[in-house]
Parts: sequence; structure tokens; C-alpha cells
Amino acid sequence: MVVIIDPVSKKELKESGTGLLDESGKVVYPMHNGAFRLVSDNNYTANFGLEWNTFQKTQIDKYSGNTVSEERFFAQTRWTKDSLEGCTVLEVGSGAGRFSQIILDHTKADLYSVDYSSAVEANYRNNGPHTRLKLFQASIYDLPFKKESFDKVICLGVLQHTPDFKASVKALTEMVKPGGELVIDFYPIRNVFTKVHSKYILRPVLKRLKHDTLMSLIRKNINTLISIYTFNRRIGLGVLNRFVPICDIERTLPAGMSAEQLKEWIILDTFDMFSPQYDDPQRLSTVAAWVKEFGLIDVDAAWVKYHGNLEAATVRARKKL
Ligand SMILES: C[S@@+](CC[C@H](N)C(=O)[O-])C[C@H]1O[C@@H](n2cnc3c(N)ncnc32)[C@H](O)[C@@H]1O
Repeated sequence: MVVIIDPVSKKELKESGTGLLDESGKVVYPMHNGAFRLVSDNNYTANFGLEWNTFQKTQIDKYSGNTVSEERFFAQTRWTKDSLEGCTVLEVGSGAGRFSQIILDHTKADLYSVDYSSAVEANYRNNGPHTRLKLFQASIYDLPFKKESFDKVICLGVLQHTPDFKASVKALTEMVKPGGELVIDFYPIRNVFTKVHSKYILRPVLKRLKHDTLMSLIRKNINTLISIYTFNRRIGLGVLNRFVPICDIERTLPAGMSAEQLKEWIILDTFDMFSPQYDDPQRLSTVAAWVKEFGLIDVDAAWVKYHGNLEAATVRARKKL
């Protein structure tokens, strides 16, 4: 059973329809629009709140009509649908819930899903209400659960966006039950050129713009940026595209979408590239060493391929029984 605690007092809390209650029955953290709220929206992830509430359905398999999240989830975790029956899964940084949807619709696991931003509302609209889903707006650094509560812990697409990558990994390892598993992925440092890229050149300025302003700027210029990107590829100068301020269309987006759908993913991913407060890629080997340092075993660090040519830098590990 997963024991819910107050991350401040460490005392046990009880769930109710109105919120998380202390021993006297007082609501300590309210329930609002489907999620227990331990923090306010006003934090460094406000950009993600806007992003996922704007693009609520874009990357959700059941709405997009593709299977990219399903393929990615099962390729990265190597879990099978049947093996998750009855397991408790903690998902940290769930965004609009693309992987929540896979866990809820393709397995019989009990899901505890956490995000620091108001994206929990998008996740609830996509996946709730559901008897196997509990949603929390909370931080990875102050998770409202007793340590070693979960059979499986996942954190996909999140760690590079936290202020202290190593402390975030530690917080996740603490949540894994003895015998349980952790699966994480993140932006990798590939080589010395990783940061020689329009993203890292322009982020110091663009991440400071008001989020609405940045979103409008991207929307206004997206057709031109797509044309430049496509032209460079056509004339064999695709290498120049790292200096075009647009997401990496070929290496990060699934093939086979309509032009309209592709444009929406590009706007989303370009906003996702410039708006976050933190963007801290790491080497696979460094993260694997941290996971070992925090006591996990069978640490496997690898590039995982899914949905054709897409790939994700993934670390899997287990806590000793
Ligand atoms: C790029 S999104 C990925 C969302 C989702 N996992 C996906 O792949 O679609 C990163 C998410 O991490 C969340 N996040 C960032 N820092 C966090 C923290 N300290 N605690 C919990 N979530 C956090 C953001 O709010 C955001 O929704």
C-alpha cells in the first residue's frame, strides 16, 4: 500500500474528495480539478503548465492516432502489459499524461502521477477520473509518499528540466521498493557539439520572454522556419539546421503525421526547447554512476530505439530485495 505523507511534517495524510487530510480531519492540501495540490502554479514550471494545457491532446496516443508513446514506454521499460497488473507505479513529471494514458489503458497498474505544474489539469482531462489514477501537483524534491513505496518508478523527459539533476535522481531512487525498478530518460550529452546549437545560443534570451509572447513568436514564424529547415535538407545542408531555431524534426518527431498535425508537434516542441527555466543534459555514463551511487543494482544505460528511427537515452535499474 502507498502511504501518503505530508512532505513538510512527514506525518501520514488521508485522501478525501476535498483533499489530503491530517489526523484531525483538516484539509492540508486541497483537491482541485482532479489533483491534490501541494504547491501553487507559480513556480519555475509555469511554462509547462501553459504548454500542456495548450497542447493537451497533441501527444496523447488515443487522440493523435499513432502509437509512439506506447512503443516508447514499453521499449524503454521492457515491462510487459500483464506484468504490471496490481503494481504501484509512480510517474514523476507527467505533463499532459501521454505515459499516464499508456499505463491506465494498456495495463492494470495503480498509477500515482505527479507534476510540479498545472499540467496536472491537462492530465486529468485526458485520463481522469479513473479508479487507478491519483494525481498530485507536487515537486520531485518533496514527494508526498513514504519512501520505498513503489514497485515501479518512471520519470521520462523531465530530469534535464529540474534545477539539480543529481538530487532529482536521488529523490526517485528513494521511492523504489526493495525489488522494484526505476526507469528514467533525459537529454543526453552526445559530444562536444551538443551545446553548439540554436537552442543553447538563444535560450538565455528566449526563456526570459513572457510565455505567451514566446508562444506567439513561434506561431508567427513557424512556417518560415519549417521552410528554411526543409530547404537546408533538400540541398544537402541539413547540418546547418542546428542553427535554425526550431526543434529537431527528423530525430525527435514521429514520421507519418499529416502536415497540420506535424506543424502542431513542431510548435509544441519548439516552445518546449526555448521556454524551460532549466535545460541540463547529462552523459548516460554519469547518470548511470549516480543511480549506482544511490544504491541501485543491475544498472543498464542505453540508447533505446522506438517507432522507427526515434531513440531515447535511458537508464534502468533495480533496488536490491
Ligand atoms: C518536457 S515535460 C515532459 C512531460 C511528460 N513526461 C512527457 O514526456 O510528455 C517535463 C515535465 O516535468 C515537470 N517538472 C519539472 N520539474 C519538476 C519537478 N521539480 N517536480 C515534478 N515535475 C517537474 C514539468 O512541469 C513538465 O510537465
